[in-house]
Amino acid sequence: MRRTTLLAMAALAAMALIGQAAAPAPQIRVVVIGKSVHPYWANVERGVKAAAQKLGVQAVFFVPQKEDVAAQISTMETYIAQKVSGIAIAPSDPKALAPTIKKGREAGIPVITLDTDAPESVRIAYIGTDNLAAGRIAGREMRRLLPQGGKVAIGTGSLTALNSLQRIEGFKQAIQGTRIRIVATNNDKEDAATAVSLAAATLRAHPDLAGAYGVYAYNGPAWARAAKEARMAGRLRIVAFDATDEHIALLKEGAIHVLVAQREYFQGYRSVELLTLMAREGVDRALQRYRVPANRIVDTGVDVVTRATLAAYAKKLDELGIPHTWKP
Ligand code: BGC
Repeated sequence: MRRTTLLAMAALAAMALIGQAAAPAPQIRVVVIGKSVHPYWANVERGVKAAAQKLGVQAVFFVPQKEDVAAQISTMETYIAQKVSGIAIAPSDPKALAPTIKKGREAGIPVITLDTDAPESVRIAYIGTDNLAAGRIAGREMRRLLPQGGKVAIGTGSLTALNSLQRIEGFKQAIQGTRIRIVATNNDKEDAATAVSLAAATLRAHPDLAGAYGVYAYNGPAWARAAKEARMAGRLRIVAFDATDEHIALLKEGAIHVLVAQREYFQGYRSVELLTLMAREGVDRALQRYRVPANRIVDTGVDVVTRATLAAYAKKLDELGIPHTWKP
């Protein structure tokens, strides 16, 4: 072969190599599926978007209007068919979602849970609150608020999602052996208007209700509104999950007494971080590098907030890097 031909071939080979090296890595696209339209989930979405921007990946965020298992399944199916890089889901019903989670994994897509777990599914890990422990904290706070005991009622948005069941279970454990008695458990299926009307009906049925437990983000404000309308505001002791702007305003007014504040911003942020690492480095290495514990649970933690600790809570959020617009 002539020298010029050889040189030309070498140049072509080099160009092909450079061409290969310059080809952009396939775009990572992760999906986060939540449970309902609510400021709580807007905070999760903020975390999702912040992480996606920082890591230079695409993130899709979806929530159904209210509790809607069928919508969660069909949304997940859509993204499995699109062969996305990873999916994080908060299953409203862990049993119903398990086959879809399996389908995703079989298609080679890493699937994790956030906010509420499906430990019996093949999800790889869970990122969120330790809900049994958090439920016990809520029960302990109710005990503190009602040292003489009394009637209490529970409001929740699901009787299938594990986070709700564990929060109720933990609460019951913590009030065992006291004179606190649960007289009603309402399920609004994450419908804000239903939450208020069920709370109002419970207050009509039990005008001597001493305490109310808000299991989901909707529920604390729903109890507070119903109590105001029934002229029981302040007298009805309310322990509620979450700390959206609405919760903080009601805490300041004295309409809600204790908040068990989740760190939902981190749930969104960390889900995107972990799924991105899995897409880039493979599942096993990602679990190791992200220091996911052997039980595959990444506990994002909670804060117990009262009117007296509001300023300290704001300071803590600033230190943790969790954005908030309210001022103590
Ligand atoms: C729960 C979520 C729920 C949200 C709104 C939160 O306390 O962790 O699972 O979707 O409240 O109801």
